[in-house]
Amino acid sequence: MAPVRPSARSTQVDTASLFHRIQSISQTGTTRLAYSPEDIRGRALVMEMMREVGLRVALDAAGNIVGRRPGRERLPPLALGSHVDTVRNGGRYDGILGVMAAIECVGVLQETGYTTVHPLEVIVFANEEGQQFGALCGSRAMVGTLGADDLARKDETGRTLAEAIHGIGGDPKHLQSARRKAGDIAAFVELHIEQGGTLEKARVPIGIVEGIAGISHTDVRITGQAAHSGTTSMQIRRDALAAAAEIVLSVQKAALENRCQVATVGQLTVLPNATNVIPGEVALTIEIRDLLQERIDATLEHLRQCREEIASRSRVNIEFFQRQPIEPVPCSRLVQDAIVESCAHLGLRFQRLASGAGHDAQMMAKLGPMGMIFVPSQDGISHSPREFTASGDCAQGAQVLLETILHLDEVLSGTARSDP
Ligand code: HGY
Ligand code: MN
Ligand code: MN
Repeated sequence: MAPVRPSARSTQVDTASLFHRIQSISQTGTTRLAYSPEDIRGRALVMEMMREVGLRVALDAAGNIVGRRPGRERLPPLALGSHVDTVRNGGRYDGILGVMAAIECVGVLQETGYTTVHPLEVIVFANEEGQQFGALCGSRAMVGTLGADDLARKDETGRTLAEAIHGIGGDPKHLQSARRKAGDIAAFVELHIEQGGTLEKARVPIGIVEGIAGISHTDVRITGQAAHSGTTSMQIRRDALAAAAEIVLSVQKAALENRCQVATVGQLTVLPNATNVIPGEVALTIEIRDLLQERIDATLEHLRQCREEIASRSRVNIEFFQRQPIEPVPCSRLVQDAIVESCAHLGLRFQRLASGAGHDAQMMAKLGPMGMIFVPSQDGISHSPREFTASGDCAQGAQVLLETILHLDEVLSGTARSDP
């Protein structure tokens, strides 16, 4: 006789325990750049927490942390998780909530002694934020789109991504072994803070993500002529920074004209960066995001035309180098419906919305049905130490995550649900 699935009442997530987990990893700071000593410390703490709830912990060749819990049957695992690396001066919830909630969910199942039909996997993805080496490195390796050119990329210290992966215990020479294929997971569910203000404004506790925006990164190199700022007349200058300023404003204008959802230049370096030298060289990165790939592509085409016009007027050379795109991804209806069921079961209101932020989940969609659960961000702030989500909201999100995993376990294995 198959074990009876515990009712929602007996699988209550403990708010204080979840809060304590979030607090303890925050002790390692809110700048936990991927592959840094702070990241290594945070990852070690997470692995300890995973072992404490009975997960069998291993690293894959990309440095993703994978905690496994056997199921009653040998089926593809139900996977849940997120990331613990942060942006510089980041927040205490972005990614961290999804990892801590996943561990908490396994802890609850451990306490109830209930074994799901599917095996479970808690995954902590390496380098989601991409502050160096580009975003979603761990999940891209898992789906096979992290290549040799990525591994050769260097950070500002000259360290390659391959060396960085090795530094956290990965095995970049055998990255293929981290690769999984479609069908290797039964479903993937990620709990995440919204990082915007929609849920808070609507006073709704749960967001059901319908789609995750695509992200395009274009590295731009502008080459003019460094010269004396006092002796070079305005008419003959080839000022790389003045041209860059026009590029930045054309990026902003493209989004304001609604060619795409958002467009940003967040990173820019100037050479030689001296008050009395006309800038000879500028490097910047254009980031475009939208739920539709064709809008991203059309915006890029428009910016290429702006480039030609700015380059000839400023007598500088402007080169665009396109990074590998992160495509927009719809969330699986199956998982969305499971989240709806869970909210109904728990008596929680929800709102459907899109994610303007990128997530490892959009890579995991290549392996199986994917869904995301959002909880409100206070004042819609994220990627800042002011990032905050009330612990009650965190716990409700974790409860919906657990309910959703249990519901998917039944639906995908065809086992009857126990009530109440
Ligand atoms: O950039 C993003 O959207 C995510 O926070 N990595
Ligand atoms: Mn995140
Ligand atoms: Mn983030």
